[in-house]
Order: sequence, then structure tokens, then C-alpha cells
Amino acid sequence: MKLKVITSNPGKVAEYQKSFDGLGIEMEHLKHPYDEVQSSDLEEVVHKGMDELISAGIRNFIVDDSGLFVDSLKGFPGVWSAYAQKTIGNPGILKLMDGVQDRGAEFRCCIGCDIEGERIVVTGVCRGTITESESGHGGFGFDPIFTHDGERTFAEIPLDEKNSVSHRGNAIKLLIEEMKGKGLV
Ligand code: IMP
Repeated sequence: MKLKVITSNPGKVAEYQKSFDGLGIEMEHLKHPYDEVQSSDLEEVVHKGMDELISAGIRNFIVDDSGLFVDSLKGFPGVWSAYAQKTIGNPGILKLMDGVQDRGAEFRCCIGCDIEGERIVVTGVCRGTITESESGHGGFGFDPIFTHDGERTFAEIPLDEKNSVSHRGNAIKLLIEEMKGKGLV
């Protein structure tokens, strides 16, 4: 069967395809704008997006929403991660964290999947810390200021390693488990 990955980012389609290779599901890219409602909760953003897509007659699809949640900033930038990245960027986050001892943070990724009339929504998490300065040239977004092992940032590790520990990687594992549990794959 085929699932449409609804995103403006073709890199995500390849990542889903890689994870679903061998499970008999083919991913296809669909660019279909939908409202990302203002909410402080990733799951609510995903559920509302799914409602809108289903009302538009779209079926058998995947949407996701992710963000960086910093403990000492009470979860900021969270659901506003894309906006924060575009405006204050990594230097702005580091500035907000200047002198802050508690550097705990987590990436979260919520995936919503509509498949054969079933709705599956899962959230994957990757805990780590915010570094004191930017480091590394790989990845994107907050990768240069986030470390999951306290040694290397996400911008300094190979993509395969990042995918095996990341919030999106963990969410995809949960999604596959749920699909297997429901006999869908
Ligand atoms: P999206 O919902 O996956 O598009 O992610 C929203 C924003 O969160 C992105 O614009 C990035 O700023 C940030 N983000 C999400 N995932 C990652 C990641 O794996 N590394 C770095 N930044 C990320």
C-alpha cells in the first residue's frame, strides 16, 4: 500500500521510506498546505491538521510536527520552534540560556497517520542538553546546540546515528509497533 507524506520537506519522505522499506509500504510525497493551529501541544496541532486533511478528502497519509523543548525556558521554543529558528536562531537560544545551569532539553516529534480508516498518533522523544556554544556543520535547525550524549552535538554525528536515537526515529519505531499491533503491516 501507499502512504502520502504531507510535508514541504522532501528529506522527511526519504527518512520514512527508509524506515518502511521491507514492510510493504511505499511513501509518496504530497505537498498539501494545512493549518498548523496555534497550540502549545504538538499532538493537538497534529490532530487538527489530520481533521482538516480528512475533511478535504485525503486518506492514507502521514503528517508530523516536531520541536525543541528546553526545560529552563518552560518548554520554549516547543511548538514555535520553526519560528524561533527563523527569527532568533541558535545564537538567540544560547543567549536566553546564558548563565543558566539547568541545560536539560528534549526534541519531540508527533506523527499522525491515517491508514485504512484508522488514526494512529504517536510521540517520540529524545532527551539531551543544550551546549554552551554551537558546534558541527551537519544536520539542520537546532542540531549544532543539542547533544544527546553530552559529548557530540547532533550536527557532529552521522545521520544514521542521529536517526537511530532521534525524536523522529523514536516516533517512527512507535508508529511501526502500533501498525503491527493492529495488523496493518
Ligand atoms: P518540523 O515540525 O519537523 O518542521 O520542525 C519544526 C522545527 O523544529 C524545525 O524548523 C526545526 O527548527 C526544529 N527541529 C525539528 N526537528 C529537528 C531536528 O532533528 N534537529 C534540529 N532541529 C529540529
